[in-house]
Amino acid sequence: MKITEKNRVFILETEKTQYVFGAADDGTLCHIHWGDKAKEDDFAARFEANEKHRNGTEELAKNEYIGNSGQIFRPQSIIMNYADGCREALLKYQSYKIKEENDSMSLEVTLADEPYGIYVTLIYRIYKGYDLIERNSVIENMSKETAVIQKAASAELNLPSRRPYYSLNPNGSWGAEFTVEKTQVRNGTLVYQSTHGRSSHTNNPFFVLYENAGETYGEVFFGALKWSGNFKTEIARDWSGSTRVVIGINDTDFSYVLRPSESFETPVAVCGRTIGLAEMSNQMNSFAVEHILPKRYAKEPLPVLYNSWEATEFDVDSESQQRLAELAAKIGCELFVMDDGWFGQRKNDRAGLGDWYVNPVKFPQGLKPLIDKVNSLGMKFGLWFEPEMVNPDSDLYRAHPDWIYHYDTRDRTQIRNQFILNITKPEVKEFVFEVMDRMLCEYNIEYIKWDMNRAFTESGAENLENAQELWVIHTQAVYEIADRLKEKHKGLQLECCSSGGGRADLGAMSHFDMVWTSDNTDPVDRLDIQYGFSLLYPIKCMRAWVTDTNRYSRPYDWDFRFNVSMQGSLSIGGNLSKYSEEELAIHKKYIDLYKSVRNVIQFGRFYRLANYADDGIYATEYVGDKKCVLFVCKNVNSFYKDRYHHVKLMGLDPDAEYSVNWERCTEKFSGAYLMAKGLDIEMGGTLESKIIVIDKN
Ligand code: DGJ
Repeated sequence: MKITEKNRVFILETEKTQYVFGAADDGTLCHIHWGDKAKEDDFAARFEANEKHRNGTEELAKNEYIGNSGQIFRPQSIIMNYADGCREALLKYQSYKIKEENDSMSLEVTLADEPYGIYVTLIYRIYKGYDLIERNSVIENMSKETAVIQKAASAELNLPSRRPYYSLNPNGSWGAEFTVEKTQVRNGTLVYQSTHGRSSHTNNPFFVLYENAGETYGEVFFGALKWSGNFKTEIARDWSGSTRVVIGINDTDFSYVLRPSESFETPVAVCGRTIGLAEMSNQMNSFAVEHILPKRYAKEPLPVLYNSWEATEFDVDSESQQRLAELAAKIGCELFVMDDGWFGQRKNDRAGLGDWYVNPVKFPQGLKPLIDKVNSLGMKFGLWFEPEMVNPDSDLYRAHPDWIYHYDTRDRTQIRNQFILNITKPEVKEFVFEVMDRMLCEYNIEYIKWDMNRAFTESGAENLENAQELWVIHTQAVYEIADRLKEKHKGLQLECCSSGGGRADLGAMSHFDMVWTSDNTDPVDRLDIQYGFSLLYPIKCMRAWVTDTNRYSRPYDWDFRFNVSMQGSLSIGGNLSKYSEEELAIHKKYIDLYKSVRNVIQFGRFYRLANYADDGIYATEYVGDKKCVLFVCKNVNSFYKDRYHHVKLMGLDPDAEYSVNWERCTEKFSGAYLMAKGLDIEMGGTLESKIIVIDKN
């Protein structure tokens, strides 16, 4: 890890890569290199920094953070609107600072649009042991006039090849989050974005680009934005074949007023370059544990939880929840979460949101008897909230119809029969904090599942001078409330949910301990969802329930369901009271097994050995110090077709001996053998799956 400057050329050295840029004679900040390491002196010559002139035209130049000035017709990083009517941001290099911290180093490069007193500091941070660069920007108004930011990206990135790249991003929807689509980036601009007010089920705020790469080979360029609101990722290929990425807060319906002496900081994008997708996922996985997830639980394995939603939906009451809790404890769950339905006049999704008092009919003595029962069974208790929302049929809405985003002249669109509270109003934000805080003070609640079930419409906020700032202020308020709750209630764990994975992003993972990936718990669909999630997000954050979804329409056995859900943070969500003793025993067997390997799954190195599109099976491998766990799932409904498979293991110690524990026997092999020769695996039958635990001797 090293950052150097010579002749206004900056070289950031990560473990295996170099990221180089420089200030040209005219002050333009030009990108030079991102990739394998070359000799520092190769870059020191000033003319190298002068990419603008090397390319012959400003239009084709590669820049670090370009404004909407001159011949810049491609997606820009910053667009300003100044008081005198000038709408060009023309940034020139001013100065730099290098700072060293314990395990990281940062470089801050300040650019200025001097006639307007606007200073933009680009922040680059690298970390020991990683090929990742965190990037963001701070825009400061040092003038006496108010200026308006129309667009401010977190990062602009230039890719080296002139051949078209392939891009991976979810082409998802509710129930199909993270189902990744591979698209070739041809000339023009490919845009992934959200205008939903949350990062959304559709696209996710990340990019993965490669020309020719697989799990173990080929240069892969990637980045993920720590942001749960509207985002925009523009991947633009110009007529000369250069590909650039601009990633940040979405500029659609966005502007931010900067008064004199005010500043605006954009969210961080964690970017990187690795050889192969496996290395990308592993770096992002362990980086999240080390540097992103809230510290308190980052390095602790997540408990096996039971969630009541699919079993009881809104029909919760003290007695039936206690019965479920007994069964959940019996099979080995460590945390019992009561989902929707416990509050206000909540009988269905048409009423109650906003009235966060315990329903006196369902819980005549409050939640205490249930929580005491859960605790006496040795489990923690968790509770569901949807704190940003209100149903029109609620006491809260009747008292405060002006507390929601709205326009007086427009109908108020209901989605799932609910509105969004305008938490950019300080009193509403305080209300949202207080409803959860009050319950946490009154009861022994150690876990909150924070849900958010609709997109924004009629986004009026009459309290704001510039309502186009609400996209940013709302998301920041969510983070602030989550942080405050955690600060006050030290042991609290938070799960971020948004009708499934509508807010499953790195921003949420900086403030919440885990995310709900999707409402779709069908195990075959889950394999695709988990594949997409695993590309850039930490395995331990991925809550994965075993339920009885499609129990009667698809012939899954419990082995298949468990072997899919054990690939993340195992959770249980079925109606246990309908299961036979034998089925409960199967649950217990798998939960015990999961507990014995969960450190390897949640913190080990992770490899996708085979995927359905290419191999007809999904195979994943988790490697810890003493154990390795292999899952193989065949989601084809056939008996003889695709019966025989071959997988080569990865990430083992070639000189160590390993015992492969098959169902009926144990075989010993060297790590070298398992990685070079691999294992032949027979996958007969319909929807078959295996978990193979391999011990390092
Ligand atoms: C949507 C969530 O994704 C579900 O898990 C559940 O909590 C429901 N909302 C409850 O309304």
